[in-house]
Amino acid sequence: MKRKGFFITFEGGEGAGKSTQIQHACTYLKKLGKKAVLLREPGSTSIGEKIRQVLLDSQNQKMCVETELFLYLAARAQLVREMILPELAKGSVVVCDRFEDSTLAYQGHGGGISLDLLKKVSVLARGTLTPNLTFFLDLNPKEGLKRAGRRDRMEQKSIQFHEKLHQGYLLLARQNLKRIIVLDATESISEIQKKIEKELSHALA
Ligand code: TMP
Repeated sequence: MKRKGFFITFEGGEGAGKSTQIQHACTYLKKLGKKAVLLREPGSTSIGEKIRQVLLDSQNQKMCVETELFLYLAARAQLVREMILPELAKGSVVVCDRFEDSTLAYQGHGGGISLDLLKKVSVLARGTLTPNLTFFLDLNPKEGLKRAGRRDRMEQKSIQFHEKLHQGYLLLARQNLKRIIVLDATESISEIQKKIEKELSHALA
């Protein structure tokens, strides 16, 4: 399928304020006259939403990191084929709350699965698709977990896990300077929003 659209992802640890900024970004994209489609990972398909429930259920404490990985990848495989690729082919701007960087940060840096192995299996889920632009909302994990409230299974993992995945995100940002825009999530909502709008208008000009 030919790709005409533009693919934007938002990334970050828990409680970094992604949802608020994503809503603002979609409103802004519509102002620019773009058809914006907002999706989330895991989720946004009926299969993916069911997988999300299993992944985030705090009763599933026995889940090992390998099971976790395959469930995230399964949800992604479905989302890419059912929603993202068809929307990009129509020329939409697809905005996705999390994508492959989350897997590298959470299951790789946080969960300890080899990054080389992870990158190889991850291709099965996403194919050749990579985001055109990624916003990473950078927040100290202690502060983020306080904001998020530690309700679901992922938020309930240890602080060490969240510290490691945060370092993983910072490394990914350094390795992908052109694609990943790092935003200081301690700034006010409107300050962050202005920075995102500036990047979007530049990227989509
Ligand atoms: P959230 O999108 O509401 O933050 O919830 C999704 C949770 O799943 C969050 O804790 C991050 C985690 N996650 C992974 O661990 N790996 C992944 O590949 C994805 C997409 C999300």
